[in-house]
Amino acid sequence: MTGPSTLQLDVSRETGTDAFVDSSDTPIAAAAAAALRAVQQHHSEPFPLPSERQVLCVANQKGGVGKTTTAVNLAAALALRGAEVVCIDLDPQGNASTGLGVEHPPGGPSVYDALIGGCPLQDVVVASAEIPGLACVPATLDLAGAEIELVAMPDREFRLRAAIEGFESSAHYVIIDCPPSLGLLTLNALCAAREVLIPIQCEYYALEGLGQLVSTIERVRAHLNPALDIGAIALTMFDGRTRLSEQVAQEVQSHFGPRVLSTAVPRSVRLAEAPSYGRPVLTYDPASRGSIAYVEVARELAARCARNDSRSEES
Ligand SMILES: Nc1ncnc2c1ncn2[C@@H]1O[C@H](COP(=O)(O)OP(=O)(O)OP(=O)(O)O)[C@@H](O)[C@H]1O
Ligand SMILES: [Mg+2]
Repeated sequence: MTGPSTLQLDVSRETGTDAFVDSSDTPIAAAAAAALRAVQQHHSEPFPLPSERQVLCVANQKGGVGKTTTAVNLAAALALRGAEVVCIDLDPQGNASTGLGVEHPPGGPSVYDALIGGCPLQDVVVASAEIPGLACVPATLDLAGAEIELVAMPDREFRLRAAIEGFESSAHYVIIDCPPSLGLLTLNALCAAREVLIPIQCEYYALEGLGQLVSTIERVRAHLNPALDIGAIALTMFDGRTRLSEQVAQEVQSHFGPRVLSTAVPRSVRLAEAPSYGRPVLTYDPASRGSIAYVEVARELAARCARNDSRSEES
């Protein structure tokens, strides 16, 4: 792993399982299979657990930058390494629910009931059928109307926070997947969270609008949620073959320094395919480079949470 300030990004190499299927009768295949086993063993060690529940939101008002992919795979990686994790889908598109294989028909139980109806989250949370310790609060199309309904409601910015505070759950992490806007839904997530994780796509327009996001976070911290912090920046869809990816990474690094995670998530077909099977890439293709990258992202975040824990214990 490289230090974040050096901008030597750790972009996981391709280790697709397809390459290793039952062909260990050649020396290269045997070596590759041994390397794969080592990687899998390395990745199955449990991560440190936070001493109190961490509420993290994945936000960027720019569309299609990898928010949902990050929320889903981070949640899966943390759960597969021993944490209890609840992913709250706060986007009417319901992509995180789909990506975690959780049904979300219109009118079905969802985060809308908690936000608007005051229903306890434990009544709408659905356990993952595939990954122990992982659960999802699904979003349905009903949530599309919530932005408008919330306007006239009391405590309109704090309704998700109240729902999470009253959430009877032993979850170590609550990860909120935000919609691509800075409306009341995202505001609810920013008021509920301790940390924001901002995914930034390594493309030309990546930094446009980032100033607006940062100033929104600062305003929320000043007026609504003093505990809020930008916990981490994750570079997504990094393509090491292009100078553009490197340039964007450098620019992000110069703005955000050590907040940028040292693992850049590579552009990977496996990551894009996984949601259509209702699975995180971690179970769809555990040895793919997208999967390995998200395990590293989760490892970095778990280590940061553990460091924050020990600092708050010392003070
Ligand atoms: N690292 C990656 N490599 C390849 N494809 C990716 C990667 N990350 C995300 N994608 C694909 O890019 C598209 C957008 O990703 P995603 O849905 O995670 O972004 P988003 O920020 O949540 O979008 P929205 O703003 O619409 O909610 C999806 O089709 C997803 O599968
Ligand atoms: Mg999304």
